[in-house]
Amino acid sequence: MRLLLTGGLGFIGSNLVRHLLKTYPDYDIINLDAQTYAGHPENLEDVANNPHYKFVRGRIEDARLVNHIVSGEFAGKIDGIINLAAESHVDRSIENAQVFVNSNVLGTQVLLEAAFRYGLKPGTKLGVNPEYTIRYVQVSTDEVYGSLGPTGFFTEETPLAPNSPYSASKAAADMLCRAYFHTFAMPVVITRCSNNYGPYQHPEKLIPLFINNLMNNKQVPVYGDGKNIRDWLHVEDHCRAIDLAFHKGVAGEVYNVGGNNERTNMQITKLLLSELGKGEELIKYVEDRLGHDRRYAIDSSKIQNELGWQPKHTFETGIHETIYWYKNNQDWLQKVTGKHVDVQTETTRAQEAARLQQEQSAAAAQAAAQAHSVTSPPAVI
Ligand SMILES: NC(=O)c1ccc[n+]([C@@H]2O[C@H](COP(=O)([O-])OP(=O)(O)OC[C@H]3O[C@@H](n4cnc5c(N)ncnc54)[C@H](O)[C@@H]3O)[C@@H](O)[C@H]2O)c1
Repeated sequence: MRLLLTGGLGFIGSNLVRHLLKTYPDYDIINLDAQTYAGHPENLEDVANNPHYKFVRGRIEDARLVNHIVSGEFAGKIDGIINLAAESHVDRSIENAQVFVNSNVLGTQVLLEAAFRYGLKPGTKLGVNPEYTIRYVQVSTDEVYGSLGPTGFFTEETPLAPNSPYSASKAAADMLCRAYFHTFAMPVVITRCSNNYGPYQHPEKLIPLFINNLMNNKQVPVYGDGKNIRDWLHVEDHCRAIDLAFHKGVAGEVYNVGGNNERTNMQITKLLLSELGKGEELIKYVEDRLGHDRRYAIDSSKIQNELGWQPKHTFETGIHETIYWYKNNQDWLQKVTGKHVDVQTETTRAQEAARLQQEQSAAAAQAAAQAHSVTSPPAVI
């Protein structure tokens, strides 16, 4: 089995690469990642020399590169695509939504199109139960459902009502997946998971940002009244859910994934303060995020009943181990924070635009270089 996994240098992607290589030692994994500010080769240093792992630096919206890989020209026939590549930070999407549409929407369409073009069995007639050789999993988010009141849960039937440019771009990608399933009967499965925590998360996100700040006796920025509620799941439990969705998920289906661990941001903040032995004077209330969703909560009974998924980590032990991991990996934190801008406190629109321009020029230069060498394989590290 050979899989194209995208976004594998990020938080969930790197945990998933490690999970797959461990669980299926004979699978070949090609990790296509643009190595943006959120993608760190350090996240996969331990598997970089595994003969079953290959890294390709590139963007998922680069159709030429994606087709080169999915057609099998690059490293042989592809049996599956798992798409995690995305711009993933809501605050950044409020600063500038354009790259979110490029990566999350256009990128998904390019991958789906490649899966269609190279996955349809030769001689198959569309409309009469077409057969495909490539399965596709779209890793989506509970944020596509919008915000809940004090009660109730998101089910797979909850209408999509995204509220941020980030969640709107993920919802658009989900709609494309749905359309490719309905139009071409492609074996596409979508997972929608709640907030993840665990090792290798970029320290712009709440839990690693706060742990890092507190370890350095810096204040932690809490939005608004701190009462926004999120459901937290350990990243390894999410990876096992994606694994199941890929291997057993029914084509065209959506599977919600959640930890049944609702916590307000203030509860998380106080837990981290207490675990790290710090006082509440380090809490800094900041102006609320624009359009901030109040509450997310997931009903994950479908994936539990139909695919046999169950989370293994309890929040109490999982968060304790996570804090321990960041404490013990301060060199990793230092390396990745070197490239990091704290959006919640420092970034202005101008800074964000400059970052995007820099990233896009680098991508354009790379695409130009690849255009000259498309007959030879792309750079592999
Ligand atoms: N983190 C969460 O709590 C959570 C919850 C549910 C779903 N998700 C989804 O899971 C996926 C992974 O999330 P994450 O937290 O690991 O994100 P992340 O920001 O840590 O990593 C994203 C990765 O994608 C890469 N990338 C970005 N744009 C790209 C492009 N155009 N082409 C190729 N690579 C690109 C980045 O370099 C990075 O390595 C995302 O699709 C996200 O929407 C995340």
